Amino acid sequence: MHFIGAFDPMIRTFDIIMKTANGSSYNSYLVRGSEGVCVMDTVKKEFSDQFFNRLERLCDYDEIRYIVLHHLEPDHSGALTDLMERAPQAKLIISGRAVMMLKALVKRDIEFEVANTGKTISLGDKTIEFLSTPFLHWPDTMSSYLHEDKILFSGDVFGSHYYDERLFDDQVGDFSYAFMYYYQHIMRPFKQFVLQALRLYRKFDIALIAPLHGPVLRTDPQKYIEKYAEWSQDARASKNIVGKKLFSVFYMSSYDNTLAMAERIAKGADEVDGVIASMYDLASLEEQNMIDLLEESDAVIVGSPTINGDAVKPAWDLLACMPYLQSQGKIGAAFGSYGWTGEAPDMLHDRMQWLKFRLPVSPMKIKLIPTEEELIECENFGREIAEVAMGKMVEMEI
Ligand code: FEO
Repeated sequence: MHFIGAFDPMIRTFDIIMKTANGSSYNSYLVRGSEGVCVMDTVKKEFSDQFFNRLERLCDYDEIRYIVLHHLEPDHSGALTDLMERAPQAKLIISGRAVMMLKALVKRDIEFEVANTGKTISLGDKTIEFLSTPFLHWPDTMSSYLHEDKILFSGDVFGSHYYDERLFDDQVGDFSYAFMYYYQHIMRPFKQFVLQALRLYRKFDIALIAPLHGPVLRTDPQKYIEKYAEWSQDARASKNIVGKKLFSVFYMSSYDNTLAMAERIAKGADEVDGVIASMYDLASLEEQNMIDLLEESDAVIVGSPTINGDAVKPAWDLLACMPYLQSQGKIGAAFGSYGWTGEAPDMLHDRMQWLKFRLPVSPMKIKLIPTEEELIECENFGREIAEVAMGKMVEMEI
């Protein structure tokens, strides 16, 4: 296996959501067998020259029999059309889920073959087996295993945005921060899919992991696999709360009215057997705390006053953390005190609906200072959500 990828030392933001303090690389690889060459992935379009220069030092274009795209995101498919023009005889191999994306990306008809788990291709004395590992990090992603050399081509899995031309994990600098940061920002929303992929990888004797970004992992590859397994465990596993539902009531309050609502909503929820309700003032949470709390919460109840017809920025900041997480299955609800129009709870409710939260109750709004009767309604609001979470009440369609 040879590296034919490209180095991007100056990239500082990737995919909008990731900071890349260490730069990055777009890894692609060339595998030569006794009966031809396979190119594993390409690079970001602007880095095509590096890719073709490295490739041309190792083979002629007419030797290429296969081009494998483990993942169609443009940082790996950017040189595909150019490569296929230079090697028109090469057979393109993509996953089944990549089929719909291919034309949208390359804007022309390209012939391809689909690889599902178990499909193999042969380069004579080299055999490559494909593994379906979807959602890591797009639905189209797959991995492959080169049997004779015990190499796992893992796609984005096990990647790091970390530039170091020495390339191998035992030669580059300390990339542990980049390795973990990459997991947290790319893989964390897809933990269940990570665990599925790890189950597939366990069937193979892996001597080297060749990811699509950053260092190639050849020093005890198992240790990287174990890290992914550890990070992909349920965030609540270490908390001894088996069978309980965690409710987080997040709020901002300018005159303690939304705070008063939050307290009674949390009280109502907490009174339901099996529910642990906690309150968090959004004014004092940093983004990483928000992400961790959101991840472990079975129910996310967000309170904001309405200011100039909108919810306050920290409430939006909280929900803006959800792209880092899996929201499907979580319960959501919104509330708030207001002075004039009271749009904030409705807006937060709508946002959670788009994020695919389960929303068992309508937003709760109280004009200015809540009365004791209204605070009892808040307790009922919290209790009702908790009973739905515990399966004690049938969920109503909102
Ligand atoms: Fe490295 Fe998801 O692309």
